[in-house]
Order: sequence, then C-alpha cells, then structure tokens
Amino acid sequence: MKGIILAGGLGKRLEPLTRITNKHLLPVYNKPMIYYPLEALVDAEISEIMIVTGGNNAGDFLRLLGNGRDFGLKHIDYTYQRGEGGIAEALGLCEHFADKDKIVVILGDNLIEKSIKKYVDKFRKQDKGARILIKKVKDPERFGVAELCGNRVVSIKEKPKKPKSEYAVTGIYMYDSYVFDVIKTLKPSERGELEITDVNNAYLKRDDLYCDILDGWWTDCGTHESLLHANNLVEKKYRKNKK
Ligand code: G1P
Repeated sequence: MKGIILAGGLGKRLEPLTRITNKHLLPVYNKPMIYYPLEALVDAEISEIMIVTGGNNAGDFLRLLGNGRDFGLKHIDYTYQRGEGGIAEALGLCEHFADKDKIVVILGDNLIEKSIKKYVDKFRKQDKGARILIKKVKDPERFGVAELCGNRVVSIKEKPKKPKSEYAVTGIYMYDSYVFDVIKTLKPSERGELEITDVNNAYLKRDDLYCDILDGWWTDCGTHESLLHANNLVEKKYRKNKK
C-alpha cells in the first residue's frame, strides 16, 4: 500500500495568506499543515509516500520535509502539478509511483482527530475497488455529499445546493489501480477541474465503492473560517494529550 498527499492548488480562498506561500505550509497551531496528513499516513503504517505540490513554493516542501526523517521515513517522493487542474488531475500524476499498488490518498488540508489505521486495514483486506470515509457535518453544501441507503452510498454530488444528506465525503480516499483508468476518462467540471467526486461515482457505478463513517472530528482548512477552526481543534487535542 502506498500513500499520496495532494498539496497543490493555489489556495485562492485563503488570499492573501497564500499569496507568498502554499496553503499546506501555513501553520495549524504548532506545525505546518502538511505535517498532519503525513503523520496520519505514517500512523496507518504507510511508508512509501508521494507529495504532489504546485505553485511557486514547491521547493519549500523539500526544505521542510526532506526525506521525512522527522516522521521515521527513509524517503519521500515529490511531484509537481501545474496550475489548478483539480484533485483528480493531481492524482493522475502518481500512476508511475503507484505502480499498480493500492493507494491511500489524503488531501493536504484535511485534518483528523483519530487514527485512520482501522479503515486502511479494512482496505488492505479488500481485494479491489475503492473505499471512502464520510462524516456528518453542518454545512454539507461545501463538500462532496454522499446519499446513503442503509450503510451503502447510492450517489455522490459535488457541492450540491440541496444536499441529500449531512454526510460529507472527506478528503481521504482509497483506490486500487483502476483509478488511473478512470482519471483518463474524466472531463473538467464547471469549475474547470477534474473532480474526485467523478472518480468516486465511477466506482459507485461498478458497485465497487465502500464507505466507513469516520470516528472523531474532521475538518479541512480551505477557508479562513475552517483554518481557524482547525487551529482550535488541534490546540484542544494537544492540551488534552498533555494532561
Ligand atoms: C474537495 C472535494 C470534495 C471533498 C473536499 C474535502 O473539495 O472536491 O468532494 O468533500 O475536498 O475536503 P475542495 O476543497 O476542492 O472544494
């Protein structure tokens, strides 16, 4: 199993914070944002990791993380995404790295309270297909939204005006190597990006998409409000663990 962190994009919703640096290098309480997804993968016993970055500050990731010694890693792979072609386009750059292995993908601005190891272990045992993690939120219209029937996902809509449930699809995705065939068939959405929701819907159509409800808090850091919220959540967790 290999891990991929998507840390590209221009972070426009966080202007002017992102004018001179990449969103994923901004601080979240006492560490740069990118530390958190990296720690989540290492905790799930994934040691072969690729970071996809972009923009003007790609070199800073190397200076900050090097070969990942601070995380107990021997090596980190890096690649570069030009412009803002979307999450699925960024993932498409990792086909060679994945080399037919199964992958766990995490968006570089997604933070979680608890370990994802138990879900990754389930996927280790899953012989094919995809697995997503969903979470109940108050503002589902900001995310990909999963419509459920019992514990099965029946549809996913990207940022729907009228969400069919309160379950957001978090930015933690697990795929087999079929994902790269799907990405090659995608067309840009209205926002001009290749959407990860279209990838998940392709697996859904083949009846090969599984899902778990994520334990503990989850947040992204894509807006000023969610970045502040993430800082507060991490600070609270840090204080709790210190006691
Ligand atoms: C992206 C995905 C969305 C997902 C979210 C999680 O949204 O498109 O489906 O729910 O990440 O953070 P974006 O941050 O690109 O708006």
